[in-house]
Amino acid sequence: MTEPTPNAAQSGPFRIGGDLSVNRLGFGAMRVTGDGIWGDPTDREGALATLRRLPELGVNLIDTADSYGPAVSEELIREALHPYDRVIVATKGGLTRTGPNVWLPVGRPEYLKQQAHLSRRRLGVDVIDLWQLHRIDPKVPRDEQFGAIRELMDEGVIRHAGLSEVSVEEIEAARRVFPVATVQNLYNLVNRKSEDVLDYCEREYIGFMPWFPLAAGNLARSGSVLADVAARLNASPSQVALAWVLRRSPVMLPIPGTGKVAHLEENVAAAALTLTDEDFRALDEVGRQEWASQTKAG
Ligand SMILES: NC(=O)c1ccc[n+]([C@@H]2O[C@H](COP(=O)([O-])OP(=O)(O)OC[C@H]3O[C@@H](n4cnc5c(N)ncnc54)[C@H](OP(=O)(O)O)[C@@H]3O)[C@@H](O)[C@H]2O)c1
Repeated sequence: MTEPTPNAAQSGPFRIGGDLSVNRLGFGAMRVTGDGIWGDPTDREGALATLRRLPELGVNLIDTADSYGPAVSEELIREALHPYDRVIVATKGGLTRTGPNVWLPVGRPEYLKQQAHLSRRRLGVDVIDLWQLHRIDPKVPRDEQFGAIRELMDEGVIRHAGLSEVSVEEIEAARRVFPVATVQNLYNLVNRKSEDVLDYCEREYIGFMPWFPLAAGNLARSGSVLADVAARLNASPSQVALAWVLRRSPVMLPIPGTGKVAHLEENVAAAALTLTDEDFRALDEVGRQEWASQTKAG
């Protein structure tokens, strides 16, 4: 018997900004670039094949940024998928690059606006469905940065807007200037720094896009609760970690990233895993313990 094709629809729907319906399990397109998220990917054909496979697997939310490459990720997405058929490409701006693995915030309003225009051109769209401020630049008054986003919305350059690596207080400040549709913070089973932000997003129906969602840290070792659940479900520890993240909240929109078709298929298959209430709670508990021990040690 052949295995059924995995499909992201099994993760359930979410409406970004109340009107853009996506399957909750998305894709992060940061890894379709070179080492240090710099330049072209080593396996360009593999990267394009990975992107082309997305719609076939029901993945219709892709996260990228002007700074991935820079430009490389947006250009490859266009090459692989334009004209987009029911696929939402969310991009970001506000970080500049001066070399591999270097990320520097620039939040001057004219720069943010220029970058949104350039992303729109590179992606080949009239309107960017979702544009996110990659970082609030501490050197620029935040209301000026939020004001640029408001203008981009009013001018029809972007439809919805979001933020990244922010606190509840910052989200509330931004919401006084524009409607915040999504928040993208580091979050996974063993990194729980943003629990309060996630709870806030859930209450307010703001999409929460956890980055680095596959991480399971020390919990992946054999004999752990995670390894036991994975063995029972015939799944990998990272699939179970992803299934846990998906189950954690109805506003959770994970964006695992890879430049390999096989890894993409494995990640999408996590949408079909069903954790029992007992497994969910046990994983929650060990994840919190792991996070507490990391924060105490560091
Ligand atoms: N807002 C922000 O500040 C921010 C920061 C970082 C990332 N992001 C976004 O979040 C997305 C995800 O973050 P991330 O890439 O750091 O974390 P991730 O998706 O949790 O992990 C990606 C890493 O895991 C590997 N991987 C993926 N699937 C795998 C599988 N099935 N088996 C084994 N290895 C696998 C990838 O390598 P292979 O390519 O070899 O599969 C890559 O090294 C990014 O693509 C980006 O869109 C946002």
